[in-house]
Amino acid sequence: MARCDELAAYTEDPGRITRSYGTPALAAARDVIGQWMRDAGLEVRTDAVGNVRGKCHASAPAAPALLLGSHLDSVRDAGRYDGPLGILIALETVDHFRHRARPLPFPIEVIAFADEEGLRFQTTYLGSCALAGSLDSAFLDRVDENGVTLRDAMKAFGGDPGALAATALPAGAALAYLEVHIEQGPYLESVDAPVGVVTAISGQSRILAAFSGEAGHAGTVAMHLRRDPLPAAAEMVLATENLARHTSGLLATVGTIDVTPGASNVIPGQVRFSIDVRHPEDTVRNDMVSLLERQVREVAASRSLGAEWRIARDHAAVRCDAALTTRLAEAVAAAGLPVERLPSGAGHDAVVMSEVVPVGMLFIRCAGGISHHPAESVTTSDVAAAIDVLDRFVDTLANEKLQ
Ligand code: GLV
Ligand code: MN
Ligand code: MN
Repeated sequence: MARCDELAAYTEDPGRITRSYGTPALAAARDVIGQWMRDAGLEVRTDAVGNVRGKCHASAPAAPALLLGSHLDSVRDAGRYDGPLGILIALETVDHFRHRARPLPFPIEVIAFADEEGLRFQTTYLGSCALAGSLDSAFLDRVDENGVTLRDAMKAFGGDPGALAATALPAGAALAYLEVHIEQGPYLESVDAPVGVVTAISGQSRILAAFSGEAGHAGTVAMHLRRDPLPAAAEMVLATENLARHTSGLLATVGTIDVTPGASNVIPGQVRFSIDVRHPEDTVRNDMVSLLERQVREVAASRSLGAEWRIARDHAAVRCDAALTTRLAEAVAAAGLPVERLPSGAGHDAVVMSEVVPVGMLFIRCAGGISHHPAESVTTSDVAAAIDVLDRFVDTLANEKLQ
């Protein structure tokens, strides 16, 4: 818990927690995590995308590794647990096994992923994509709001865009990927359970849309002559909310809106906005994304505006591995805790890791289900319960391998 507090001080935005990909703040947090990994006896390296990875020794060093981790980057004005807590719990478990007499039959690699939230480049999961070998090289040309390319940001972060392929996990190199994370929702609190076993992760689409019209003088251009893109965006904000409210299981959010040129006495010339769309069923999500695109084009046509529609990221829903989920549930029961199973509406690196390795996730109850907000909070006893469960899970896996 003290380490979560310590990491919270690494921010690009004094007074609130913001750590986006490739920034000095993230690099500094990564150095601290790297040191804590070394203190836990791990062999530490930074890979081509900038993830920090610490490996512990095992009696069979070449055996497929158990991967444990989460992400170190954050949203803007974040809480202190979304991501870092999962890395630190993994480290705690590794530290416990280091002090056992019998070495583990497989190595554990603890990973602090460098970009899960995608705040800077709208990329999401860059860190895990590099491990899964699915980082689209076209992303390297994406620019942040200051025009810096992902390629240059990666280099400035000590990464190597030319070595991404070599960072990918070789086939068979990993046994499983397990991530501990705060729930970010209210379910565990409602059933009074400290932890829960994740069954599946909802799919999501991240869309970047824009309307363009004609900027002009707010005091001289008659209303009927205007081509103002902001009311069009307002129509889409309401249409997005309306669609989600009337479609079971659908969550849709306009999270950013950028008005250009942005002066109170100037009619806007362009409005850019994002739409985040999620649903447990991929067919529903895809249908709703198509419907929203049609609405954007219709609104643009009715107001003589230009329209842009770009799907920045698109991830299908993922099921957690049945065998890992069962073992996790057994570990929860063995710890004397109620076994709760729940799906995740939030995205996680496990989504991408599932392309190459079986994945499992354990959620920790968080106060009020609040997340992506500075008020994010967990109790020390729930965190201790999660560590206990992870220890038992690793122990069971090790005993099975030793038999
Ligand atoms: C990650 O936190 C996401 O679900 O957007
Ligand atoms: Mn997260
Ligand atoms: Mn998050």
